[in-house]
Amino acid sequence: MISASTLAALLALGHGVLGQQAGTSTAETHPPMSYQKCTTGGQCTTVNTNIVLDANWRWLHSTSGYTNCYTGNTFDQTLCPNNQACAANCALDGADYTGTYGIQASGNSVSLKLKQGNNIGSRVYLINGDKYELFKLKNQEFTFDVDVSGLGCGINGALYFVKMDADGGLAKYPTNKAGAKLGTGYCDAQCPRDLKFIAGKANVEGWKPSNGDANSGEGNTGSCCAEMDIWEANSISTALTPHACSTNGPCTGNTTCGSGDSRYDGYCDKDGCDLNPYRFGVQNFFGPGKTVNSNQKMTVVTQFITSDNTATGTLSAIRRIYVQNGKVIQQADTNIPGITKTNQITDKFCKEQKAVTGDPDEFSEKGGLAGFGKDLDAGMALVFSVWDDHTANMLWLDSTYPVGSNKVGAARGTCATTSGKPSDVESQQANAAVTFSNVKFGAIGSTYKST
Ligand SMILES: *[C@@H]1O[C@H](CO)[C@@H](O)[C@H](O)[C@H]1NC(C)=O
Repeated sequence: MISASTLAALLALGHGVLGQQAGTSTAETHPPMSYQKCTTGGQCTTVNTNIVLDANWRWLHSTSGYTNCYTGNTFDQTLCPNNQACAANCALDGADYTGTYGIQASGNSVSLKLKQGNNIGSRVYLINGDKYELFKLKNQEFTFDVDVSGLGCGINGALYFVKMDADGGLAKYPTNKAGAKLGTGYCDAQCPRDLKFIAGKANVEGWKPSNGDANSGEGNTGSCCAEMDIWEANSISTALTPHACSTNGPCTGNTTCGSGDSRYDGYCDKDGCDLNPYRFGVQNFFGPGKTVNSNQKMTVVTQFITSDNTATGTLSAIRRIYVQNGKVIQQADTNIPGITKTNQITDKFCKEQKAVTGDPDEFSEKGGLAGFGKDLDAGMALVFSVWDDHTANMLWLDSTYPVGSNKVGAARGTCATTSGKPSDVESQQANAAVTFSNVKFGAIGSTYKST
């Protein structure tokens, strides 16, 4: 995790370590990344925000010195005999964003490299002072520019929202002393069990190091919350997906976390109601040289429409529009028998897609768009990430999945079913990176224009 020379340099520094815990060996400086808030008529003002790296990527060491609390994919048994002791004994430290993680942010942009040294992928949040910036999406429009040309099969450059606490759980969980400024409190609709800390406690109890991933493992606890996947994409495929949860908070074990065979028993809808144009019959819409040309930068607009066109109304549709080379391109209509042609996510589309694909309709069960809309009311934190997939090789996004299936909806993109293995991706696309920029948020119609 840390080289001998770096360690020597760290030991030479004077330091005072706060007693989950915040370490002080590397100063934590949040790189700047601004966004714009826009009002009807297209007037936009800049908000001077920053980004912060998620806690799971950080060096975790003893509060009293520099012994690793976690190395590779294993917790130190002495410092971390159980969840509570581990939270008291271990501190998260500051991050060298560029050097260690290949993260560059300045002006209104952030760029994330898949691989930097031994580090794979990253996840960062938009932060304002010491709190995550929360966005209330209903009756609003969210827009950004992205360049996915450098992301081949198996990589996901994602921009999404999750229902995290703005302070990273500081107030709710007093044993979390690190908070948003060190990237704590993550949750999403997959109820991730790979987090080293959840709700102010470590996740060492039941921790099983991953078989295939040298940096990861899973504990008994997962961290569930509603998730709005604005953008899960590479140069081949893209998906827009709301995921609702019946409970936002920690889950324990397979049943409530929805792990393995219990996928449809957990707190969250892991499948979501996805709109991937390729999957729903529009194979020429998104990709290299296609209508939305993934060889070039593009502007991606997402609108959250309510039934009465107010922020307090019922969420009734999620719409996507692209702008590329000055041209406004509406999301193409789906083209699959059994789905009424549509270019937006509505309850009707969700019900019809589950019926034609045969996937369980967890989305409706968790309340459909109206229920999901309630999860948006408290405000959602903005996440940027780049990752490869040790569970399913990203085939659910860009290939045919399940492999070998010829069911409706199995074809999601043109990548080979043999693609996306992390070992291949990391060696063959070692320089892959995604850049997100020019985030704008505001009234419907205020954040983009044609030229
Ligand atoms: C939980 O699910 C995993 C697969 O994700 C399986 O390997 C494990 O045996 C299950 N545990 C229990 C207690 O059922």
